[in-house]
Amino acid sequence: MSAACFLTGAETDIALAARMLASGELLGLPTETVYGLAADALNPQAVAGIYQAKGRPADHPLIVHLVSSAQVPLFATDVPAFAYALMHAFWPGPLTLILQRRAGVAEATAGGHDTIALRSPSHPLAQKVLKQALALGVAGVAAPSANVFGRVSPTTAMHVREAFPDLAVLDGGPCDVGIESTIVDASRAKPVLLRPGMLSAAQLSAACGQPVEREPVSATNSNGGLRVSAAAPAAPGMLQSHYAPRAKVCLGTASDIEQHASQWMGSMAVWARTRSRLPSHIHVGAMPDNAAACAHDLFATLRALDTLGVDQIWVETPPTGDEWEGVRDRLLRASA
Ligand code: TXA
Ligand code: MG
Repeated sequence: MSAACFLTGAETDIALAARMLASGELLGLPTETVYGLAADALNPQAVAGIYQAKGRPADHPLIVHLVSSAQVPLFATDVPAFAYALMHAFWPGPLTLILQRRAGVAEATAGGHDTIALRSPSHPLAQKVLKQALALGVAGVAAPSANVFGRVSPTTAMHVREAFPDLAVLDGGPCDVGIESTIVDASRAKPVLLRPGMLSAAQLSAACGQPVEREPVSATNSNGGLRVSAAAPAAPGMLQSHYAPRAKVCLGTASDIEQHASQWMGSMAVWARTRSRLPSHIHVGAMPDNAAACAHDLFATLRALDTLGVDQIWVETPPTGDEWEGVRDRLLRASA
């Protein structure tokens, strides 16, 4: 791993970032969703470095980041028309597609699975680095979220630095979207939503001209009637305990929070849309009442409240609308 430093959007830094990827080094890469821990997807040693740095089991597959859909055939075969319709509608952007993997390609990146996850990020610095890396022979860049396995994903360069002090990080500012990409399985006959994000099922269905189905809710993975994806086999990295801060995260209505606060003897912090009467020593953050703003702030807020050293973080349960599904999913995981 190269010496820790922050790279900027300056042309010389972008060129350096691309050269680092081409020579098999790891890099903290900004995307519009969250920061990634990036390496050349076709270099098994570099990819092994990602698994090692993250402490991630080697059968948990990584997402390959591409400049555009032009690189898809290098990694995938049997791409259905609905998958191209989704790329056309949402790439570059916060959508990952699971496709049949081209035999013999990116086996380590795919964790040995016969499918591969592909996405084209829209962050301007990610696009610049990917384009220059492509010119140096890097067809795709593997990148999981740049957090230690099981912890909250990073949405600033500083979050990446805290998790990986020795890593060079390209600073692209705070991530616009703030939660990880929506994942759609396009390796079967019909599109299936594996991980909700900021693209709603209705938007996805409209773009590909057919209903995007959800994975069936299994009894052990459902939580309060809200869906939490199965851990295996469809999305092996989606453990329920993902995205957990150190403090215990609890979800409740404003009145649940008020009632709990009146009895709780330990320390707690609150993130809520509704103003309620809480003892003045309790730190209360204002949760935005629109889903996109809430997603944007979510992980940074959980981190900030966690650094207060409180025992519990109480978050007001998000509204039920389709556009809140990604935020609800991450909060359920954080509170699992
Ligand atoms: O927004 C994002 O997607 C971010 C940025 C950095 O692009 N990346 C990200 O990567 O969230 P990661 O590794 O933290 O999450 C990727 C998810 C995991 O749940 C993994 O199991 C799933 O994608 N995945 C990857 N390849 C897969 C495959 N072939 N089949 C099923 N699920 C797959
Ligand atoms: Mg992750």
